[in-house]
Parts: sequence; C-alpha cells; structure tokens
Amino acid sequence: MATVQEPHGGEGADGVRRRDFIHIAAVSFAGVGAAAVVAPLVYQMSPSADVLAQSSTEIDISAIEPGMAIKASWQKQPVFVRNLTPAEMAEANAVSIGDLRDPQTLADRTKPGKENWLVTLGVCTHLGCVPLGAAEGENRGDFGGYFCPCHGSHYDTAARIRKGPAPTNLVVPPYEFTSDTVIEIG
Ligand code: FES
Repeated sequence: MATVQEPHGGEGADGVRRRDFIHIAAVSFAGVGAAAVVAPLVYQMSPSADVLAQSSTEIDISAIEPGMAIKASWQKQPVFVRNLTPAEMAEANAVSIGDLRDPQTLADRTKPGKENWLVTLGVCTHLGCVPLGAAEGENRGDFGGYFCPCHGSHYDTAARIRKGPAPTNLVVPPYEFTSDTVIEIG
C-alpha cells in the first residue's frame, strides 16, 4: 500500500524522508520525556537507599573475650569494639581527668553498667589513619589502648589521647545495646 500512497502525495523520496524524520523526532522526544520522568525517581531513590544501607550497623559482640577487640565498619569507617578487662578498666579509672588533653572518664565513653564495652571509631583524630591495637598482637602503644604509628599518637585503655599529635580522643559513635550481645551503631 505504501507504494500507492507515494505517487498520490506527490512528495517523492524527499517527502518520505521528511515524514520519517518527523516520526523519528517524535519518538526521540517521547524517549527524552520518558527519561526525564524516570531520572528524577532514580536520583531521588538512590541517595536514600544508600543512606539506609549505611545508617546503622549491627554487631554481634558475644565472641569478644575480655582483653580482645574487633574491627567492624560503619558508614565506611572502621569501628573498634573492645571488651576491657577489669585491669584495663581500673587503669582507665585511675587516671586523673585533669591530666587529659581531652578530659573524659571511661563512664563518659561507655554505657551505664557496660563500662567494659568500649566502642570507638578506628580513626586517629590527628590525620585519620587507622590506629593499631584492635587486632591480636598489634602494638597498643605506651598506654595499652591504641597506637597510631603514622605520627606516634598513643591512646589509653579508654581510647583517650595520651601522647602524640592527635588533638582528641578516638570518637565514640552513636550506638545502643539491642541485647546483651548485640550493639547497633548509628
Ligand atoms: S594520623 Fe595518627 S598520629 Fe598522625
């Protein structure tokens, strides 16, 4: 049937091409319109999905024996969870707060009744290196907590800065105990 319409329209090959162009252009605009509708949805959905996936992290702490620590991750940052021994807690509590660069007690940095659980970011407050001391056998520095070898920052058993260039204690992130053996960070 198309071969019959061409002569009647009198448009010849150019007319066919023009119609084809209009048809293609219309499809293209429809395509752009559809993309424009979809794009904002994707744009709006992706950050919230991303944030939701990272906003909290659950950690099972049941296997962390006294004196041990683990490294976890929250919002792409390392987190240290440490089960302090009674001796490490006593050491932290024996420090005169007035002697500290960033004065905080162990109780300030832990949850009531669970002072043995020390949860901090594993990020040196000097320039952001990951200190040693969470893994077994790593150097815990002069004060038995964490040691950042980058420029020599020493943290004590409450992860408070005691020596070296770091200005503040390792940061305690927001977290809660959801049971005796699980914490939720974030
Ligand atoms: S980054 Fe830790 S001492 Fe410099």
